[in-house]
Amino acid sequence: MRSFVVLVALISILETGNSTDCKNEPRCQISRVYGMRAADCSDRKFKYFPQCIRSDIEVIDLAMNRIRKLRFADLERYRNLKALYLQDNALAKLEEDTFDGLDDLTGLDISGASHVKIPPNIFRLPSLQTLYLSQQMNSNIVEVLETTKPITCPLVHLDISYSEIERLPEMGLLPTLVKYNVSGNNLFELGVKHFSGLCGLRHLITENVSLSLTKPCECWNTNRWLISKGFKDPPFDCQLKDNLCEEVPFNSSDKENYEKCSILLGEIARRSLLKKVLLPLATVMLVILLCIFCYFRRRRRYLEQPSYRIPAEEESMNSLPLKKIENS
Ligand SMILES: *[C@@H]1O[C@H](CO)[C@@H](O)[C@H](O)[C@H]1NC(C)=O
Ligand SMILES: *[C@@H]1O[C@H](CO)[C@@H](O)[C@H](O)[C@H]1NC(C)=O
Ligand SMILES: *[C@@H]1O[C@H](CO)[C@@H](O)[C@H](O)[C@H]1NC(C)=O
Repeated sequence: MRSFVVLVALISILETGNSTDCKNEPRCQISRVYGMRAADCSDRKFKYFPQCIRSDIEVIDLAMNRIRKLRFADLERYRNLKALYLQDNALAKLEEDTFDGLDDLTGLDISGASHVKIPPNIFRLPSLQTLYLSQQMNSNIVEVLETTKPITCPLVHLDISYSEIERLPEMGLLPTLVKYNVSGNNLFELGVKHFSGLCGLRHLITENVSLSLTKPCECWNTNRWLISKGFKDPPFDCQLKDNLCEEVPFNSSDKENYEKCSILLGEIARRSLLKKVLLPLATVMLVILLCIFCYFRRRRRYLEQPSYRIPAEEESMNSLPLKKIENS
């Protein structure tokens, strides 16, 4: 009895402790966005990651707050997160494991962080497709992208615009990447090697890129490569007359990279075809076959049934066990 009282007291203390915290926490607006549970917490002067949102939330928009650091423990409650918007928080500290275990996370925006070290584990998240890393000051984007090779997240859209990048990262083979925004950077180096592993790239955004190259023909060469891979217009503004550069064959290691990437891309396409078309098709076929089978079985049973019954016989058969029970 006494322990029960203590327990009740303890629970009530814990609850009041919790609720006072949540009373002080700014409120987020919960709604449904594309069928997902979403919390709009943008521009609410959050100084730490909110801890009072329902834990099954799938989207959290925390843009324009004052969150400076983010740890694993801050996100531990929210294991169903699919998208997390943290732009314009001046994030300064992320830990190695901050985003670990967010296996459903497909979109992450940490634009506008200052001096933050991007943890390499981000590039190993199993579902991450969209990553905004624009307007970073003094960040390690290039280094981290190069040292985490191979990047295993299925990255489709990468934005590293206006991030004071002086050369683009050599990311290795990244066949999933379709959209790459490198706008607003001042590049001192540019080469085919920055693109040779990106065989799925379709949209390269290069607005306001300024170039200070020691070998200006590398820009022209890069454009030539990208055009040979299906780009209609030269993506980079080389400010150079074409006839100044000599048309040399592309580096064999770049060609090799592109081929390896294309093989991976083919595998991905086959797998997604299997998942999106063939599996559903096989399921539908199976259901149809099952229906046909059932139909014919019922029909056969129906045909095999005697066309008339002997009511007396049926009755005696039905009542037989009942009588036995009565007797015993
Ligand atoms: C590329 O980045 C710039 C700057 O962040 C942005 O204004 C622009 O809309 C982006 N372009 C695309 C196509 O996403
Ligand atoms: C590119 O630079 C020009 C001039 O500096 C500026 O007017 C324009 O807004 C910039 N574009 C973007 C997308 O920031
Ligand atoms: C080709 O690329 C590799 C690796 O980037 C480099 O080491 C080599 O010098 C390049 N060869 C030529 C001929 O440019």
